[in-house]
Amino acid sequence: MEKTSTGMDSREIRQRFLTFFEKRGHAVLPSAPLVPENDPSVLFNTAGMQPLVPYLMGTPHPSGKRLANSQKCVRTQDIEEVGDKTHDTFFEMLGNWSLGDYFKEDAIKWSYEFLTSKEEGLGLDPARLYVTVFEGNDDAPRDNEAFEIWKKYMPEHRIYFMPAKNNWWSPGDNGPCGPDTEMFYDITSRGLGDMTKEEYLSADDRQDVVEIWNDVFMEYEKKDGKVIGKLAMKNVDTGSGLERILMAIQGKDNVFDTDLFEPLMRKIKELAKGGTATTTDIVRAERIVADHVRTAVMMIADGVRPSNTDQGYILRRLLRRAVRYADVLGVGHGTLSELAPVIAEKYKGVYDNVTEKMGDIVREIWEEEDKFRKTLERGIKEITRLISAGSISGVEAFTLFSTYGFPIEMTEEFAKEKGISVDRAEFDIEFKKHQALSRAGAEQKFKGGLADGGEKTTALHTATHLMLAGLRKYLGDGVHQAGSNITEERTRFDFTYPQKVERDVLDKVEAYVNEAISKVCTVKIEQMKKEDAKAKGVEGSFWEKYPDVVNVYSVVSPDGTQYSAELCGGPHVEQTGKMGKFKIVKEEAVAQGIRRVKAVLE
Ligand code: SER
Repeated sequence: MEKTSTGMDSREIRQRFLTFFEKRGHAVLPSAPLVPENDPSVLFNTAGMQPLVPYLMGTPHPSGKRLANSQKCVRTQDIEEVGDKTHDTFFEMLGNWSLGDYFKEDAIKWSYEFLTSKEEGLGLDPARLYVTVFEGNDDAPRDNEAFEIWKKYMPEHRIYFMPAKNNWWSPGDNGPCGPDTEMFYDITSRGLGDMTKEEYLSADDRQDVVEIWNDVFMEYEKKDGKVIGKLAMKNVDTGSGLERILMAIQGKDNVFDTDLFEPLMRKIKELAKGGTATTTDIVRAERIVADHVRTAVMMIADGVRPSNTDQGYILRRLLRRAVRYADVLGVGHGTLSELAPVIAEKYKGVYDNVTEKMGDIVREIWEEEDKFRKTLERGIKEITRLISAGSISGVEAFTLFSTYGFPIEMTEEFAKEKGISVDRAEFDIEFKKHQALSRAGAEQKFKGGLADGGEKTTALHTATHLMLAGLRKYLGDGVHQAGSNITEERTRFDFTYPQKVERDVLDKVEAYVNEAISKVCTVKIEQMKKEDAKAKGVEGSFWEKYPDVVNVYSVVSPDGTQYSAELCGGPHVEQTGKMGKFKIVKEEAVAQGIRRVKAVLE
């Protein structure tokens, strides 16, 4: 049994994937930015399908029914696992989608062909492949159909039935979901050969096999955590982690030895001046620094800045954790930012904004490291004192955060290493009092958002478009969306503007939106070429994320007045008449040059 090592690098694999699916009728989309534009249910895109939720739920996609891309993703819920062979907080997901077009037969065939074809795909060894399929439960039957299809390609005894815990996929408590079939690859040098299900499960535990692809058959819908029935159409959502594919192709037993990380690991070793750690600790620390700085670079390139809330908090936490492990390695103070250009090199021609934003990236990393270092030494003294006293109260943990800049998770990690506890509940109470930290750490924020398609959320989404048009009318064309977060209760909207917006202007914007509501406008969806939309003055940020043909949503009154025209993925109300009364309840600064408003419909 050969251990495949074809010499293909990350760039070639990404390209082969896109070409393979383009040849099979898929439109290739650019990656959406890491921060979802209109979806408050998550802080970052955590899967390739996330930006496509409205389309999986039925909105027609302007590029058609077959799509493929390589999507930038961030998942930090397993941050403490980083340092092992496979965990990384930033990764790219190669994916292909069928929006009510092909289903299991073609999805499985193409997954298998891409993985094993030497000419068009990856040329992986079929004898190292294992497959799992859904065993069935009260929500959906055993997936015999997928099993039968797989038997055309795989010996039956290497296809294992698994429960929903393993083989049911959904992006959260709400939205499209379904049973999946997953492909695993044997990365050992000896080769595992045929395995019983029990042997296979323990190989999985040992990370001797790694999941390299997941085909989700999305024909169900979840609401509030429960499967409530079938969607109007049968979709396919596939995802394959590029970093893991690389391990399989390049014959490595961990992601950090693949070409994507290799120059970065070399640079870290170069910067390390010999810390005091043991060899195992060094390997772990090197991987943590590499992973966290890489993720930070990608976040900053997509506009995230270190802060104490939401995405900014995750970025801060990653950078501060990287500083701590840089010290384990003896990496010189103020040198973490030197890793950024090495990281950017791998994404030239793929995500060019990483190189374009290098100035911002280096500055942000440098400043965050500097800020943290100013208090780090005293903070470590303080935490050491608390640890030797035997416990850390919530109030003390809060002081470590507010005075010494220690993210709570870092305090918990220090404490755990010494086997003592931190009163997290008390910390949270203390925190709420100071109203700063979001529930960062797990990207899953709260239920709802546009994915839930709820009436109130949808109406607030339409109101948000009108508000942006109003802000541009009274504050000028320099105003653009910088972020948006909509729940059933309110819309929170960030936009570019250099100074405070006075109440009398907010009143005018309110009146503008309410006029559009009272005139009972119609919301029209038009598909047009991106250049035509730009030429017509259609509003949009992140133009580069959209395909050549875009959906333009406009709000037009019966007398022909156009109140808003904006690029969007929907959903919106059909008519504005019953939305309620629009009110802007708050205006504040969030960062330099960015203002935030909160508004409601009453
Ligand atoms: N959404 C699925 C996953 O993330 C397949 O892309 O695994």
